[in-house]
Amino acid sequence: MRVINEPQRIKKEMQEISAGTIGFTPTMGALHKGHISLIKRSLKENDISVVSIFLNPTQFNNPEDLKKYPVQTEKDLEILRDLGVHYCFMPTYKSLYPDNYTYKIEETNFSRQLCGAYREGHFTGVLTVVMKLLNIVSPHKAYFGEKDYQQLQLVKGMAKAFFMDVEIVACPTVREEDGLALSSRNKRLTAEERAIAPLFARLLKSEKSNDEIKTELRKNGFKVEYIETIGNRRFGAVYLGKVRLIDNVEI
Ligand code: PAF
Repeated sequence: MRVINEPQRIKKEMQEISAGTIGFTPTMGALHKGHISLIKRSLKENDISVVSIFLNPTQFNNPEDLKKYPVQTEKDLEILRDLGVHYCFMPTYKSLYPDNYTYKIEETNFSRQLCGAYREGHFTGVLTVVMKLLNIVSPHKAYFGEKDYQQLQLVKGMAKAFFMDVEIVACPTVREEDGLALSSRNKRLTAEERAIAPLFARLLKSEKSNDEIKTELRKNGFKVEYIETIGNRRFGAVYLGKVRLIDNVEI
């Protein structure tokens, strides 16, 4: 696996690939089975697979959350090598944001709902970094998890709105055996929080109303940000202690 830090360098390498398809999985590191399922799909569907590791500061509205985000770069690189990934792109903030974030990609409708209503600027940070990464790597396909369903829809919308030559591939949420959706933030749950966490997914999937779910969650020590249904999907964001969890299920 080639590890490349410079945007111009990987851009050139990608341009020199004349045959076959490039699959790309953007990540913020702290890789888990959810990321691995996206990467495996990329490896299966493409000739060359690229994974980026970049803890993107512009999408963190809460500086504490950024500071506490798990970092395990050596372990991540080992996972990627074992999987057979061809390129890992690990830019620095300076190299990826030569403009120091004065240019932004902003969606002004869906990005303000659900998580966007509670995390100001979050999706602008996500869309901006994803646009940069897609412009650098120029993949045929890019892989995103349904766990971050709102992010997935916004990235799909951006690709369409800007006539981008990339297929955004949606991959199903990977869950622990007890139903908890995999997330890098799960590592920060205490043993007691981890034990109660699966109740969140169980309630989202239940027949209960959104209000009943909120009540039940609060009774069990969760702080509820939102539980909302849009179309045939129920979305939720909660806190267990200091850890924010999101999930969504088809109902
Ligand atoms: O889903 C994530 O891990 C991040 O939001 C992404 C897409 C890598 C952009 O930083």
